[in-house]
Amino acid sequence: MALLIRNGEIVTVGSRVQADIYVENETITGIGKDLETPPNTEVIDASGKLVFPGFIDPHVHIYLPFMATFAKDTHETGSIAALIGGTTTYIEMCCPNRNDDAFEGYQLWKSKAEGKSACDYAFHMSVTKFVKETESQLRQIVADGTASFKIFLAYKNFFGVDDGEMYQTLELAKRLGVIVTAHCENAELVARLQQKLVAEGKTGPEWHEPSRPESVEAEGTGRFATFLENTGATGYVVHLSCEKALHAALGAKARGVKINVESVLPHFLLDKSYAERPGVEGMKHVMSPPLRAKHNQAALWNALAGGSIDTVGTDHCPFDTGQKLLGKDSFVNIPNGIPGIEDRVNLLYTHGMQRGRLDLDRFVDAASTRAAKLFGLYPRKGTIAVASDADLVVYDTNYRGVVSAKSHHVNNDYSGFEGMLIEGRPSVVTVRGKVQVRDGKFVGERGRGKMLKREPSHF
Ligand code: URP
Ligand code: ZN
Ligand code: ZN
Repeated sequence: MALLIRNGEIVTVGSRVQADIYVENETITGIGKDLETPPNTEVIDASGKLVFPGFIDPHVHIYLPFMATFAKDTHETGSIAALIGGTTTYIEMCCPNRNDDAFEGYQLWKSKAEGKSACDYAFHMSVTKFVKETESQLRQIVADGTASFKIFLAYKNFFGVDDGEMYQTLELAKRLGVIVTAHCENAELVARLQQKLVAEGKTGPEWHEPSRPESVEAEGTGRFATFLENTGATGYVVHLSCEKALHAALGAKARGVKINVESVLPHFLLDKSYAERPGVEGMKHVMSPPLRAKHNQAALWNALAGGSIDTVGTDHCPFDTGQKLLGKDSFVNIPNGIPGIEDRVNLLYTHGMQRGRLDLDRFVDAASTRAAKLFGLYPRKGTIAVASDADLVVYDTNYRGVVSAKSHHVNNDYSGFEGMLIEGRPSVVTVRGKVQVRDGKFVGERGRGKMLKREPSHF
């Protein structure tokens, strides 16, 4: 059935206009004032509301075997949580570890999503080793529409690559025109500092941050930038958490390195005191890079407002209380990760827009458009234009609510953002023209999501 979204304030990067949006066959076919309503058209009144392009989370983990366990969500649960929060596309990290075959891993990750996700999705393909078959496997994966790679400089002997492997990955990425995303922490320093702290009897979650200090992230960020500089590849730092690492990235950018920056929701809103809470309460807030000293948040918000932090993701990675307790005897064994897929847009709107830290342009850019452009989805996704996919979020800025594990849809028994107020929420969310969410409830079609095939564009 056709869909008409009437009289909303349409927000895209560089434009705000009061108009109607007409949708046929999954696609926007008309934008204008007082559009006609043909028979058999579903009409949504968006008067008094903002209409955004579907939001894009560029960094999530749904299927993830990691730290002796598995992240809790499936694509059924994760995609519904995403949609309720206004995210209509996510990009999942496909993460086979060093002992797995990369291509088999890629097929496995795809099979977990296919027919299960209610929103559209794509993958970043992790390169966790570089052996003789890697180049041909990566070529096949890119030809299949996965045009971004991921490397980890952290997680030694599991996901982590050494400098030689990083060089080979970046050199191939440059030839293929593929952007490389990177988790930037020095694996050797993390391993040494973990050993030292544990030997001193410092085993609680409060020691996770000191085991991966800001300098360790700044070193990883700077090293990644230097490798980009010397290969000519385009990079994207994931979950940048602190001012020191930001300086490393922006210094490189200033000298012409093609480096882009993502920070994630927890680092804007939570600080290291959360991980210093006693026992499991602290463990719930262990992620890597760790939550940092509070002063870093102002630096992240300012860089986001100015556009030098490009995107806001979540690094959604839910482990429940029982799983977190795997680390009760040592922080080294606490599964790293905090869920956030459902809360990103509303908390960014609340703390960015409602608190005056961001303007609407930057909000929509950071939460949708910039990711679409960097990752080969634009203008199909990330904007509202004739011929774009009809992924639309009718947003009620007057809604008031509270984040809580009691009401969230993520498959986890806690929320990292428990008790935080939200000032704004999607009232209608569509995926390719089909209403999937109304007022906090999933009302759509499970399994509707499609894998998005992307072309390399970073030559
Ligand atoms: O703590 C985190 N970030 N967990 C997920 C894995 C990763 O490093 O992205
Ligand atoms: Zn990471
Ligand atoms: Zn991650």
